[in-house]
Amino acid sequence: MNKKYLQHINPGIDSIRPYEAGKSIEDVMKEYNLKKIVKLASNENSLGPSPKVIEVINNFQNIHLYPDGDGKDLKSKISEVENVSPEQIILGNGSNEVLEIISQTFLSAQSESVFSKHAFVVYKLASKVRGSKFHEVDAKSWGHDLDKFLEHVNEKTRLIFIANPNNPTGTYLSHDDIVNFLKAISNEIIVVIDLAYFEYVKTDDYIRTNEILNEFSNVVITKSFSKIHGLSALRIGYGIGNADLIEIMNRVRQPFNVNAIAQKAAIASLNDVDYLNASVESNSIEREYLYNCLDEMSLKYIPSQGNFICIETPFNGKKIFEELLKKGVIVRPIELYEMPNHIRVTIGKRFENEFFIEKLKQTLKSFK
Ligand SMILES: Cc1ncc(COP(=O)(O)O)c(C=O)c1O
Repeated sequence: MNKKYLQHINPGIDSIRPYEAGKSIEDVMKEYNLKKIVKLASNENSLGPSPKVIEVINNFQNIHLYPDGDGKDLKSKISEVENVSPEQIILGNGSNEVLEIISQTFLSAQSESVFSKHAFVVYKLASKVRGSKFHEVDAKSWGHDLDKFLEHVNEKTRLIFIANPNNPTGTYLSHDDIVNFLKAISNEIIVVIDLAYFEYVKTDDYIRTNEILNEFSNVVITKSFSKIHGLSALRIGYGIGNADLIEIMNRVRQPFNVNAIAQKAAIASLNDVDYLNASVESNSIEREYLYNCLDEMSLKYIPSQGNFICIETPFNGKKIFEELLKKGVIVRPIELYEMPNHIRVTIGKRFENEFFIEKLKQTLKSFK
């Protein structure tokens, strides 16, 4: 069959491999004939969403009507929580879509982007799709090296992506690190600060977003409802920035990009502050538990500010991942992030973490 059209795909797309999501529980059950599976692969909140969110979803009506394309009620709630005006907010089908929209707005074959080497893969995908040149900057202690970022910025740079904390490494940048960087670059360049995991951070010097938004009009902050809010399946996130910039991004956004159930669920989740705080606490306790187990096993890991830990293994991470799968534990190999000997594990509930550690011990023993 003639498929000559394949020669005409946009430049950049030929080098993209489809995004490989973490394996699903159902797939692994079937493939390995297992009854018990623990999934710690995609940095979801293992406690799930607030019971108040479930109530809202169960009571949802009017599924035959289009959602509010402007997301007014949710934006109003977010503006209260974030202390910004609704005009400064853009809603996305996951924060992923906000990253896409900002890329669509500013990237082309004539422009360039800059991000760190071991950073969230979507920055690279969004750049490649548009045929933009991108610079993957070498990391410093697995984290973003912002001084080195400066060496890659030029007159063609339109977007810089900074994940804070970073996925998959869990490293973070302080408020001063980011402010100093923003002062050093031209405000013709948009800096995207991706805060998908910010709720989990426990340091005093973490960024203060309002101060940054007030001082720098070229910053877009992105946040997700997929992590601590436990709404991954509903696909919802948002961006905050200068109202003029957000207005332009809204021109690119598809109508009705965020479904009505997700909008209502997100409001209910933001309202249940106690539940969110309890999730943070649980994560901190379980992170300590896992650190202790890993220390006992003499395994190295990157200290994390997120709900996941990057563990260095003495063997190939993909092989460890495959062996763990057979034992009913789904983690994430991260060779894609040029970390072939690491695995990334989401911090789960205690019984999940215990199960993971037990199976990891067995796996490492079997490799010796
Ligand atoms: C750093 C980072 N940013 C953004 C996202 C996208 O999240 P979502 O589109 O589910 O909001 C993820 C998801 O894993 C992430 O790790």
